[in-house]
Amino acid sequence: MRKCVSFALCGVLITAFIFFTQAQMSDKAQLGRELFHDPTFKGTIDPAKATGLTCANCHADFDETENPDGVIRAGHSVVGVPHRGEAKGGMIKGADFARAAGGGGFCYEHFLQRVPGDKVNPTAIPAEHAEALMAYFEVISGDNKGPEFEIAMLDDAAKKAAGEKIVAMSGDASKGWQLFGRACVTCHPSAKKAGIGPQLVRSRAPRNVDAAMTRWATKIRGGGSLMPFYAPDILSDQDIADIIAFLRDQIENTGK
Ligand code: HEC
Ligand code: HEC
Repeated sequence: MRKCVSFALCGVLITAFIFFTQAQMSDKAQLGRELFHDPTFKGTIDPAKATGLTCANCHADFDETENPDGVIRAGHSVVGVPHRGEAKGGMIKGADFARAAGGGGFCYEHFLQRVPGDKVNPTAIPAEHAEALMAYFEVISGDNKGPEFEIAMLDDAAKKAAGEKIVAMSGDASKGWQLFGRACVTCHPSAKKAGIGPQLVRSRAPRNVDAAMTRWATKIRGGGSLMPFYAPDILSDQDIADIIAFLRDQIENTGK
């Protein structure tokens, strides 16, 4: 009898839960969810400009701390975006914040359409799309404030200093291979294969491998034209040193 009552109660709770979550996902939020995974943005992006990247390539739309899936994404989870109130280290704030989809408007131009960083207008994303993305972020966030992080915008000298510090560390190539698999394969399918990013390890080794590794560590910490930067809470100095050890290993063993 007790079992029966708890079953009945469970049934009511599950029905209420399904109703509640479905009721929350408005058409607008549903559109936002689809845009989040769509490299064409419902066909509105010019095919000549599209990179093929989606928001989901670089941001989780769930709580990665609670339920990690092992993938290392360059951007933080979008859970909590509506609670932040500003983005890009305070560069996007006030009324622009919602209009720029909480900062996603920057990524929309830069990463999905290759607009150079200094030419990006974060509020150029169509208003309807910005609203839809924000509606989706609200549904997945609820009260969850998301990950706590601070973005330090590094200048060229700081990026180079970070790269030099990393190459001076010793790394573990087998850990580096796993990190590479979790973080880089969306754009570098393997060390020897080009994708959205270039082929890293070629049949001929760079003339000065040490100098190349410093440049590469600098690129991973600092980002490039289309290559996203990896903040220290996403890849630590040791993680990047391990990735560099792996790439160095690949260079040294190529052609042998
Ligand atoms: C190639 C990787 C990449 C893609 C693709 C990408 N982003 Fe980002 N995004 C980043 C990085 C890196 C940052 C800066 C640091 C961070 O938030 O983790 C960022 C920042 C953001 C922020 C602001 C976080 C803050 O507070 O500064 C939001 C919101 C965001 N992206 C949403 C989006 C949306 C929406 C899309 C799809 C239109 C998208 N991103 C596509 C990498 C990417
Ligand atoms: C969103 C796509 C993307 C992701 C993810 C990405 N890269 Fe890249 N990467 C690129 C592009 C595009 C370039 C070339 C242009 C540039 O510098 O931005 C590049 C360039 C590089 C270079 C410089 C190559 C050279 O010869 O100068 C290195 C090294 C590199 N990536 C390593 C990595 C590693 C390691 C990861 C993972 C931690 C990674 N990339 C993740 C897109 C990406």
